Amino acid sequence: MALLELRNLHVALEDGTEIVKGVDLAVASNEVHAIMGPNGSGKSTLAYAVAGHPAYEITEGQILLDGEDMTEAGADERAQKGLFLAFQYPHAIPGVTVTSFLRSAINAIRKARAGGVEDPVPVPEFRKELFAQMERLKVSRELASRYLNDGFSGGEKKRVEILQMAMLKPRIAVLDETDSGLDIDALKIVAGGVKELVGPEMGALVITHYQRILNYIKPDFVHVFVDGEIVEEGGPELAHELERSGYAKWEKEKV
Ligand SMILES: Nc1ncnc2c1ncn2[C@@H]1O[C@H](COP(=O)(O)OP(=O)(O)OP(=O)(O)O)[C@@H](O)[C@H]1O
Ligand SMILES: [Mg+2]
Repeated sequence: MALLELRNLHVALEDGTEIVKGVDLAVASNEVHAIMGPNGSGKSTLAYAVAGHPAYEITEGQILLDGEDMTEAGADERAQKGLFLAFQYPHAIPGVTVTSFLRSAINAIRKARAGGVEDPVPVPEFRKELFAQMERLKVSRELASRYLNDGFSGGEKKRVEILQMAMLKPRIAVLDETDSGLDIDALKIVAGGVKELVGPEMGALVITHYQRILNYIKPDFVHVFVDGEIVEEGGPELAHELERSGYAKWEKEKV
């Protein structure tokens, strides 16, 4: 069964403008799917709608997580069900440190899984896991005690998004341009972190502009996304083709 399934998904902005115009997509465990498309085609809108952002309205279609209809569910419920979104533009939360943010997020998920009963992760266990993941993802200890994303460099924000993913161990990870803004070494580390988690327990949906990250996380499927729709699907070779010829082939149909 697919971990994430989108059925004829339509998403509109608050003013009613339709951005996502009927997307069908199924991501199973052990699979990496890549979505590639031009600026403004609606990729982040799709990601936000999947994550349950209240500003993006699902006007038609369905979102299923592990076979369960989550179209009407709130963002927290989707996260508890194992969905994780790494933001293209992560927000700062002044006053909340990376460490306390992570601990709250983990505890919220644990509570939901324990049927609403508080089941906080023991602090020594949490710290051990946190330090191990930070070591692996080359996130400095100094960063963990700072306020989340407050004054972080572009690359630091992206690494901390992946640190969150590594700590939360989602079943389905949606990564919105996690590669952009990363230097070459960071790209390898971040991609390695994602690759390690993809397996029987997790599938991933990677939104990207560049085939480069796909050298490190090989996609099973590439979906070309233009003007709110998937216009072509294929294997990893399609990403190489896009790098060569761009999106003109599909975009000119609009004129
Ligand atoms: N909250 C919003 N208010 C107004 N317009 C919005 C909002 N969110 C998205 N849009 C518009 O919807 C369209 C799709 O935006 P979106 O961010 O989903 O594109 P994208 O494919 O992720 O682009 P990029 O590759 O540049 O990240 C754009 O025209 C954008 O301006
Ligand atoms: Mg975007």
